[in-house]
Amino acid sequence: MRSFYFCSYMNDPRPIGIFDSGVGGTSIWQEIHQLLPLEKTIYLSDSANAPYGIKTQEEIIGLSIKNTERLLKMDCKLIVVACNTATTNAIKVLRSAYDIPFIGIEPAIKPAALKSANKAIGILATRGTLTSELFAQTSEIYTKDIHVIEVEGNGLVELIEGGKKDAAETKDLLQKLLAPMIRAKIDYLVLGCSHYPYLIPSLYEILPREVEIIDSGEAVAKQAKAVLFNNNLLNTDKSGSKIPEFYSNINPQVLSQIIQAEKNGYKVAKMDF
Ligand code: DGL
Repeated sequence: MRSFYFCSYMNDPRPIGIFDSGVGGTSIWQEIHQLLPLEKTIYLSDSANAPYGIKTQEEIIGLSIKNTERLLKMDCKLIVVACNTATTNAIKVLRSAYDIPFIGIEPAIKPAALKSANKAIGILATRGTLTSELFAQTSEIYTKDIHVIEVEGNGLVELIEGGKKDAAETKDLLQKLLAPMIRAKIDYLVLGCSHYPYLIPSLYEILPREVEIIDSGEAVAKQAKAVLFNNNLLNTDKSGSKIPEFYSNINPQVLSQIIQAEKNGYKVAKMDF
């Protein structure tokens, strides 16, 4: 009887909920899906309200609550805020308002600062992230002796949401945004927005060869696994449908393309939320 109780307790088939201002957080979803293949995942792309990065903190909190409420209606056991802007502006409020665990994503300033031989790092993120209190606190702790070049990636989210991640227009904008970082001889570039991993091929074309790119996706997936384990929320059951579900509140064509939904057999649909 006791071991039966233990087994059923260990297996929680409810889905992991993930949200972002748009399609970018699928870069985090990829890491989670890879590390936790037995987990069912539900992804919300709030593309109707993208970009979050130029909104006020109050607006970002409101949108984060809306997304959370939708995922809770779908019975999610853990929520991953796959958006740096929403994490740095709203996760504190979410954690105090809801009784389930939240995992967030923040720019990986610490590893970049610790590894930088040139003592110069670049951070590409949204205005919302770069001006947040949480970002200022982390930056203050780890970059005392480091030259940090912070650049707002204005326009990048819109281009990615428009299906133009590999377009010449996007590469031109990246050239301009990266110029001050290249001049400052950075050796690490921190991607502080979950949309930006989709720009990595273009970034490597533009950056000098010695510059390394750091993003936080893998760390977020590991953290999600640890939190599920510590709270006895892991799904250990190999049976049952694990087909990932993706919902967008606009036409989901770009979302479908970016995750190659047709080829991979993922469910993608439009939903109002
Ligand atoms: N993916 C979001 C992030 O990580 C993009 C923010 C935006 O919509 O501006 O910050």
